[in-house]
Amino acid sequence: MSEVIIAKTADEAGAVVARRIADQIAASPSFVLGVATGSTPLTTYRALADLIRTESIAVDAVRAFALDEYVGLPAGHPEGYASVVAREVVRPLGLDPQLVRVPDGSAEADEASCADYEAAIREAGGVDLQLLGIGSTGHIGFNEPGSAFDSRTRVTELAESTRRDNARFFDSIDDVPTHAATQGIGTILEARQLVLLAFGENKAQAVARAVEGPVTEALPASALQLHPRATIVIDEAAASLL
Ligand code: GLP
Repeated sequence: MSEVIIAKTADEAGAVVARRIADQIAASPSFVLGVATGSTPLTTYRALADLIRTESIAVDAVRAFALDEYVGLPAGHPEGYASVVAREVVRPLGLDPQLVRVPDGSAEADEASCADYEAAIREAGGVDLQLLGIGSTGHIGFNEPGSAFDSRTRVTELAESTRRDNARFFDSIDDVPTHAATQGIGTILEARQLVLLAFGENKAQAVARAVEGPVTEALPASALQLHPRATIVIDEAAASLL
């Protein structure tokens, strides 16, 4: 790992990451941001929205690509990542929705739609900075343990424990999709910078294995050790096993 930053709180971590992104957008207006969903990046998005507003940073040329999307939710479902990205990222940051893409999560999602997504990332010139959360299984995006480090965007099956973790966003676990379309680990590793955020004690074990454990497909986030510019930003609880 190139850098581990331990912040006191999730708000402090969000402020550090937002500052880094805001400076890069100001220096390079056609910045390509890789966005993650889940609760962890929310403090970053809020702090970034504040910086963009207070410093009048131009974002009209910023492009964004989401990491992943559930497969099979009805279009417009509030927990579909297309809706989450619109609500938590696009609107607060004032991005142009035309320049923001989320993988196809319709029932028709297949190899062709995943290949289109890869092509769109390539056409944009690649991702400048990819934000990542981490699942309790050590997953990044929806790359569950066992995902190949050279995997590309594809439809995958979710681990039972991931469906349980994410059931809090749905009425019951039965409503949590069984599949998702996710950028592969190979896709993620091509971003020029990676910033993985993790907060809370329940992430401590996955964080310790990602940072200090062997680089293994059994712990997808350990792939960050292979990247020359990967930063982990965590709070004290998530750092407790380091
Ligand atoms: C989901 C997402 C991941 C995210 C993970 C952790 O499974 N697909 O990209 O990192 O949740 O979520 P949270 O940040 O809410 O703990």
